[in-house]
Amino acid sequence: MDTNPRADRAQITEKVPSFERFFEQEHVLTDRILDCATAIVERLRTLREGEQIPRDLFTAMAILVYLNENFADQTHLAQEEAAIPIAIARGMPRQDAEWVYRDHEQGRAYAKAAGVAWDRINADDETDLPHAIDDFARCTEGLVKMFAYHAEREDNYLFPEMGRYLSAADDDLIMHVVTQIGPPDVSPYIALVVDMEQALGIRPPDSAPSH
Ligand SMILES: [Fe+2]
Ligand SMILES: [Fe+2]
Repeated sequence: MDTNPRADRAQITEKVPSFERFFEQEHVLTDRILDCATAIVERLRTLREGEQIPRDLFTAMAILVYLNENFADQTHLAQEEAAIPIAIARGMPRQDAEWVYRDHEQGRAYAKAAGVAWDRINADDETDLPHAIDDFARCTEGLVKMFAYHAEREDNYLFPEMGRYLSAADDDLIMHVVTQIGPPDVSPYIALVVDMEQALGIRPPDSAPSH
């Protein structure tokens, strides 16, 4: 078998591996979702006690909860968690990636806690409503701060570090694995992010100027 991993690796370090570009692109979408989440937190904190959540803000919150519970974990986090073992199999020390799994658990916990607060917001309990709104804002803020730092650490440290251990064939394998996780077409989810941005008055990137 004609394999020369070292030569392959040398070749691959000269360009950014496909998996790295793939995840960095997903992080661009993550940033858009986190920007929406930040806008939601800011808007919630301007509400006076007992004030109803405005319709647009409510719509954006519902989309955020949906994406937290049905998209982010099943797609991006699951893809990263499937890619890392391939780098470990190729020699990356396991402990160099353990923080990723711990961060993901932290993020899942924040998302779950925000989901509980969302259920309380929808429970028609006037006494609890301001407390539920406060919890939703706090848990969402935690989620934003954690994942913003986390994605930056992945971009700057994890992905380049994984790349050091991977041949071009390993890179192909990661792409093969990660592209079979999550929905085959993410465009409907991107459309949902655009809806969330519009509900919050955030202009989607590359959007055509309005006439
Ligand atoms: Fe991650
Ligand atoms: Fe990530």
